[in-house]
Amino acid sequence: MRVLVAYYSHTASNRYLAERTAGALEADIEEIRPRIGLFPLMLLGTWLGIGTGIKKPEHDLNEYHRVVIIAPLYLGKFALPAQKLIGRYSDRMNEIFCATCCGSTYEKRNEKFGHEGAFRHIRKLAGGKIVHCEPFPIALVIPEEKRDDSEAFMKTRLTDDNFKGEILERFNGFIARVRRS
Ligand SMILES: Cc1cc2nc3c(=O)[nH]c(=O)nc-3n(C[C@H](O)[C@H](O)[C@H](O)COP(=O)(O)O)c2cc1C
Repeated sequence: MRVLVAYYSHTASNRYLAERTAGALEADIEEIRPRIGLFPLMLLGTWLGIGTGIKKPEHDLNEYHRVVIIAPLYLGKFALPAQKLIGRYSDRMNEIFCATCCGSTYEKRNEKFGHEGAFRHIRKLAGGKIVHCEPFPIALVIPEEKRDDSEAFMKTRLTDDNFKGEILERFNGFIARVRRS
């Protein structure tokens, strides 16, 4: 089974997640490259669902049985480059899985900026091709006593040092799901 991991990341947590995913699945990996790399523009575009496009993917998407798309959430949606990849290329992909290392927690998943709304939105864009979406809240790697500290939230990134315990168990579950679906 051939798998491609396509990711976008600004501060490296989703890149880390993508690299771990590609390693575990022995998959090819590529970065989703926006045409214009201006972060504020990308944020605005994410919110509105419009804006700069992405460069053509380097890999031939329809050669893969599964494409795993990994990106952050901004303002309640998947980052614009991931939206664009799905909106423009979903007809060339077979099965799509999505994952995100996000700020939203499991408890807040149904709130305005929670991951459930972002998953609903991306499922609609993909026209039925998304098999599964998996959240990896950054709170999972923040010590419980610091989870109310917004600075800890902003500063924490996924690394080899903190990718253990519950997040690693959930990651292993996600990998097993992509393999067996
Ligand atoms: C301006 C901004 C808006 C964000 N909005 C959301 C959001 O709506 N929901 C959420 O779960 N996380 C949100 N986040 C948190 C990011 O998704 C999170 O920090 C992510 O891990 C960053 O990924 P990266 O390190 O790969 O760039 C936001 C972060 C920023 C900077």
